Amino acid sequence: MCGLIGYCGEEPAAPLLVKALQHLEYRGYDSAGIATIADGRVQLKKDVGKLGEVRQKHQLDDLPGTIGVGHVRWATHGGVTQANAHPHTDCTKKVAVVHNGIIQNHRELRSRLEAKHAFVSETDTEVIPHLLEEHLTTSNSLEQAVLKTTRELEGSYALVIMSSQEPEKLVATCKDNPLVVGKSRKGNFIASDDLAFPESVTQIAFMEDDETAVVVKDNISFFTNDGHRIEKKFIEPSWNSGEVSKQNYPHFMLKEIMENSQSIRGAMVQDKKLITHMAMDILRAKQIIFTACGTSRYAALVGRYLFSKLAGKFSDVIISSEFHYFSDSIDKNTLVIALSQSGETADVMDGAKLAKKKGAKIFSLVNRNNSSLARMSDRVLYLNCGAEIGVAATKSFSSQLTLLYMLAFAMSNRLDEGLEKLNEVSIMVEKNFSKNGKNIEELAWRTKDKNDFYYIARGINFAIASEGALKLKEVSYAHAEGMPAGELKHGTLALIEEGVPVIAICPSDHTLKETLSNIEETRARGAFIVGISDQYNPIFHEWIEIPSIEYIYYPLLTIVPLQLLAYHSAIARGKDPDKPRNLAKSVTVK
Ligand code: AGP
Repeated sequence: MCGLIGYCGEEPAAPLLVKALQHLEYRGYDSAGIATIADGRVQLKKDVGKLGEVRQKHQLDDLPGTIGVGHVRWATHGGVTQANAHPHTDCTKKVAVVHNGIIQNHRELRSRLEAKHAFVSETDTEVIPHLLEEHLTTSNSLEQAVLKTTRELEGSYALVIMSSQEPEKLVATCKDNPLVVGKSRKGNFIASDDLAFPESVTQIAFMEDDETAVVVKDNISFFTNDGHRIEKKFIEPSWNSGEVSKQNYPHFMLKEIMENSQSIRGAMVQDKKLITHMAMDILRAKQIIFTACGTSRYAALVGRYLFSKLAGKFSDVIISSEFHYFSDSIDKNTLVIALSQSGETADVMDGAKLAKKKGAKIFSLVNRNNSSLARMSDRVLYLNCGAEIGVAATKSFSSQLTLLYMLAFAMSNRLDEGLEKLNEVSIMVEKNFSKNGKNIEELAWRTKDKNDFYYIARGINFAIASEGALKLKEVSYAHAEGMPAGELKHGTLALIEEGVPVIAICPSDHTLKETLSNIEETRARGAFIVGISDQYNPIFHEWIEIPSIEYIYYPLLTIVPLQLLAYHSAIARGKDPDKPRNLAKSVTVK
């Protein structure tokens, strides 16, 4: 949620900042802006709109100077207006601040500051430059003023700050929001995500809560929040912006759907000893709780099923934003398995931190190397599916499922057998792409004026119904609900009328007979039935064929046509599937 970048070096800053922001746009895309320092003053351009629009309208690349900060916004406090876009400045326009997070006590601070300071935006952020303006009058340096300022802030923040009074440095600090610094031969960077760094960045270091970094052209130094110098370990970046391209696809979402099969194979590359240790710990734990949000939570629901089915181990899934409300039941006998593509989701981090505090062990399944969740976990499995840029999670879901299969198989001492099977499934997923592509695209166009969709399934595929519905909602803005097929008759059936699409995930497994009865109940009320199955049934108006396989593997096959249906529905409705309205990929606010 909001992407930050800062650069200080020998090269013109603006083009570098813009390029970095292009790779951070997945974090927010309702407004964009950059500020540089040149001719002894802060030069700033910002506006509403996607980065490309703001860049063109304001010629962002032309801002002079070799130091600067940039921001892409996902609005939390204050509407999407030019005044609310970042960077924000103080009354003297000497300080420029970019912020990701939420300042909880901004109202109190604003009412105190308003007597002396002119506020121009509705944001929580704007209190920061005004506080800095005050503290700079009693500080020896910008970093000292930043330390004094953050002591007054409640809430979460990642901040990159510069001042025309000290035009050679950037100061950055964070709490509950990510920041990473990067070194290159021609200057140093600081960003919300190392994905923003150009290939010239050869060393990176992740910042921890309450650390402050002072970034100058040829050095980066770190301090604790009481001003003590600390040394941090630099590592090689795991990937960089050069890797992130749509190749020949029109959208990242389609490219990433097409990468599902290789994501399964990527996730399978793990240290078997580690998987086995984790499986043993899971079996030993008295209580297993999965926690995650959105798509990752649906993956967790499949995990819950697999742990029970393959290893007879009961677990529960708690939505991360609700985790706190169950804190009374968490203790040292609890093992929490947190799933997160980004590893930065604030709700997940919050739940995991709380569980850790209460003595629980934290395992995580994460895509982004060295993300905050990965760093705070006792054990981590990486998804290894490469950067996922489309806001809608697709390939990372397949990777999460793969890791959950592996853990469940290891728990029942059958890891090698599971790996063999997963390899076969990955080949089936690949072959099946070409089979249904046109069919699904036509279906998306045929249903493009429908506004309500119901996704139903039983057993292990129930979570896939929910995930299919989430995908459609996110990118096409049609209302969709996913539910266990047997639950329809307990209320939702009242909404089924002539022509309402019911997407039934009903492979020929032990749930088929009962699911067909539930489909029958909707068809009798006029529903338009789309069957996702390996077996044709005349009850279907449309059949999306998938190959037959042992039933526990169906989720890896059934999810792909649902992702494609969502993608083509977005296109048919004229929406941008990569940047759906109101959403952002990495949700770093609670
Ligand atoms: C998925 O398509 C969504 N963009 C969203 O639900 C996402 O899965 C959720 O925000 C969790 O993200 P995470 O996996 O990075 O924690």
